[in-house]
Amino acid sequence: MKKKKLSRLDLLKMKKAGQKVIWITAYDFWTASFAEQAGMDMLLVGDSLGMCVYGYEGTVPVTMDQCLWHCEAVRRGASKTFVIGDMPFLSYQVSIEEAVRNAGRFYKEAGVDAIKLEGGLRVCPQIKAIADAGMLVMGHIGLTPQSSGQLGGFKAQGRTAETAKELIEDARAIEEAGAFALLVEAVPPEVCGLIRDRLNIPVYSIGAGWEADGQLMISSDVLGIFQAFTPKFVKKYENLGQKTVSAFEQYVQEARDGDFPKDEHAYKMVDGELSKLKELLD
Ligand code: KIV
Repeated sequence: MKKKKLSRLDLLKMKKAGQKVIWITAYDFWTASFAEQAGMDMLLVGDSLGMCVYGYEGTVPVTMDQCLWHCEAVRRGASKTFVIGDMPFLSYQVSIEEAVRNAGRFYKEAGVDAIKLEGGLRVCPQIKAIADAGMLVMGHIGLTPQSSGQLGGFKAQGRTAETAKELIEDARAIEEAGAFALLVEAVPPEVCGLIRDRLNIPVYSIGAGWEADGQLMISSDVLGIFQAFTPKFVKKYENLGQKTVSAFEQYVQEARDGDFPKDEHAYKMVDGELSKLKELLD
């Protein structure tokens, strides 16, 4: 099991050494704790919690308070793992001042190690201001779920030379603005590789192939809990959704049939107290 929480410098060293950083989303104490036990390098408390925990159709309705509550739980569950808080829609777009204040809330109220926000050139002033205030900020380009309406849905990005070039320009601007790392979502592996090779900061992939400094996955996808749809890039390592239904079905059946609870699930009265009680009641 990993003993020491990674730092920004460790992440840079790992990029130079070609050592992949493997991370996953977590939204609650137990998932965070299991991920830490499994040796995960980093955890993202993604605003995907809107879809994976609250059942929204997208991430737009997610609030700062929701993100902070879940970050706090994850922090408690994984004290030795680098935790990244995801800034929700409209927590950083309205003004630079609000972006810095909200980024600071993740640090002060939830004890995160870094924050992430979505977008390219248009959020570089926010990235610079947050970094200048002393925080670690990660960029996120490609498929950016908060602006999926503008992108025409949850679709792969950078599949033409022109759009791939724009992503490379965005990536460069994000590094220059002071981001400590960049996440690239749902683009072809070659495009992610071109970005990684041009940047000094680590470039991580979710659905952007293997030419990256590390991989992120959504825990609800990996565990087979999220049922609404399955993106092309997802590999389900378990089917906990089905296993949960099956466990609940067994409980319903046994409890209906009187097979649960049994003796071993019942508290015992102190010796002799039952007959005393009966006398009291007579
Ligand atoms: O919210 C999230 O989990 C994310 C991933 C989709 C990258 O931002």
